[in-house]
Amino acid sequence: MSTPLDTDFARDLVRGLKNHPRRLFPRYLYDDVGSALFEVITLLPEYLITRSETQLLRSSSAEIAAQLPSGCAVCELGGGRGAKAKFLLSGLAKRDRQVKYFPVDVSRWALDETVIGMEGIDDVVTTPICDTYLDGLVQVEERIDKRPLVVLFLGSNLGNFDLPQRDEFIARVSACLKTGDALLLGVDMVKPKALLHEAYDDPIGATAAFNKNILARINREFEANFDPRAYGHTAVWNENESRMELGLVSHRAQRVVIPCLGLDLDFEQGERIVTEYSYKFNPSDIDEVAKKGGFSVQGTWTHAEGRFSESLLIKTGVKTR
Ligand code: AVI
Repeated sequence: MSTPLDTDFARDLVRGLKNHPRRLFPRYLYDDVGSALFEVITLLPEYLITRSETQLLRSSSAEIAAQLPSGCAVCELGGGRGAKAKFLLSGLAKRDRQVKYFPVDVSRWALDETVIGMEGIDDVVTTPICDTYLDGLVQVEERIDKRPLVVLFLGSNLGNFDLPQRDEFIARVSACLKTGDALLLGVDMVKPKALLHEAYDDPIGATAAFNKNILARINREFEANFDPRAYGHTAVWNENESRMELGLVSHRAQRVVIPCLGLDLDFEQGERIVTEYSYKFNPSDIDEVAKKGGFSVQGTWTHAEGRFSESLLIKTGVKTR
């Protein structure tokens, strides 16, 4: 067993697996294997998020960079290999001569790849921080003195929070920022159902492998006996909630034990574990996020086909509900 029992992961497993419907929380999809599988997903033609956001940042980075506070440090939360941040960082480096870039990620593998990827960009000094989003952000804040800070939260990572968690997360990010600091938020927009299904249930099974890896991870870290082959990947569009719902459905009745956590779980045939929600956004959702977090929306850049948008939020400190 490699993960201690007094961790958030252990506690969330007990809480989530005893729940009905059973839940596993998306942050645990990203061990090194999960992060590498997610990188594969981003290369799939069916997965539009990364492609759309890359196109958008490639065409709009100069304009966005021009609106960022001069001399700012940049912190990217959960940026994977940092490929998208490069466009902005090179724009900023031309203006500010030297940019301090702090990628925060739970995957050491993703951070190592980010550092390698940044080597070719002059005038960007990269300091990787292996931690969760908010603990990482606190560390960044402590290292930048009074310099303005720009937080990048791209790739529609915000969409993987439940609504109360979303509000709490934005409030906590906001609490780490000074008036005038910025948050660049990239979110996936609502789009036709067929496109969403293709993206989350791709023909080569990369998303299924990414989803099932969470079971393999629990086996590795807690000596559980999940059989990933005995679960099927599901991806369902919930129109009312404006979210894709990813899950794992038990092909048969089966018992799973995780002795170190005292869990003895009987799954019925067809029983589903919810593993991830991926919310899709309307423009009004972004305004609401900004208002609740004490930000004003300084600009929004939208992909030509309306698939994805990038919004620059500036901290004002004035919160409205
Ligand atoms: C990281 N996040 C924005 C992805 C998404 O689209 O919600 C995670 C993902 N899950 C399955 N495919 C991609």
